[in-house]
Amino acid sequence: MSAKLIRGTEIRELILEEIVIEVEKIKKKYGIVPGLVTILVGKNPASISYVNMKIKTANQLGFKEIQDNQPQDISEKKLLAIIEKYNRDDSIHGILVQLPLPKHINEKKIIHAINPDKDVDGFHPVNMGRLMIGGSEVKFPPCTPAGIQEMIRRSGIETKGAEVVVVGRSNIVGKAIAMMMLQKEPGADSTVTVAHTGTKDLALHCRRADILIVAAGVPGLVKPEWIKPGAFVIDVGINKVGEKISEKTGKKVSILKGDVDFDAAEKVAGYITPVPGGVGPMTITMLMKNTLKSLKYQLGIAK
Ligand code: GUN
Repeated sequence: MSAKLIRGTEIRELILEEIVIEVEKIKKKYGIVPGLVTILVGKNPASISYVNMKIKTANQLGFKEIQDNQPQDISEKKLLAIIEKYNRDDSIHGILVQLPLPKHINEKKIIHAINPDKDVDGFHPVNMGRLMIGGSEVKFPPCTPAGIQEMIRRSGIETKGAEVVVVGRSNIVGKAIAMMMLQKEPGADSTVTVAHTGTKDLALHCRRADILIVAAGVPGLVKPEWIKPGAFVIDVGINKVGEKISEKTGKKVSILKGDVDFDAAEKVAGYITPVPGGVGPMTITMLMKNTLKSLKYQLGIAK
């Protein structure tokens, strides 16, 4: 038996359609659209590629999109002043500073400078705190965990009382998704274990999981014998393991591999997300959802 593939590329289309409809309605009634600024410092190729995808999606949805590209040697003070300018701009509902930043800039200081009510990445400590409290306190869940939870919800799998094992304890994925699946809410209410590099017997914990979320950044870490038959396996890893020439474009492209040994795992799991085309496309989708939500807060119509 092979697992049902849960594709982010498919779920993304459904959510983007929902967003377009809402944007149109709001534009008609209030004469305003969601505004997103993407701030890119320097010319890191991966960052350029991510930012371009964000810009393209925002434009597709009819958002106002400002691309603010800054040189690698911009001072921290100047970057802080730019953020302050967007904090004060009522037509901007989401401020995204693409990470990583150059070494001479203190990333924490930059994240802290973003108005938490425009922090559509959900990285500001205020939004992390809101996430911990849960329920109506949550304004902007971080985009990757929000995408993971959306995939779980839309699969129809029972989460109440389910054993969820998260491998990885980063702030923006591991810790955040653990907190979200723990809340007493639909699509959550699970028993959550967080495993990490200090965990003694990783396989033992993984084998207990009804829902296994792997965000370790280690290609092929999870072996098929670590998976409970029928489990939902969510692979957050996007590891570059080499390069090849694309048959379509003739250009050099990265070969990507997830944290799960996919070919073997899909024979054991009940549901599985592929890499690429799994969690990845959901992250940008949830960024758009958060930006729309931010406008709805401004208008006093957010639920
Ligand atoms: N760099 C890699 N992923 C992300 C993300 O989700 N948000 C931001 N701001 N930077 C990133």
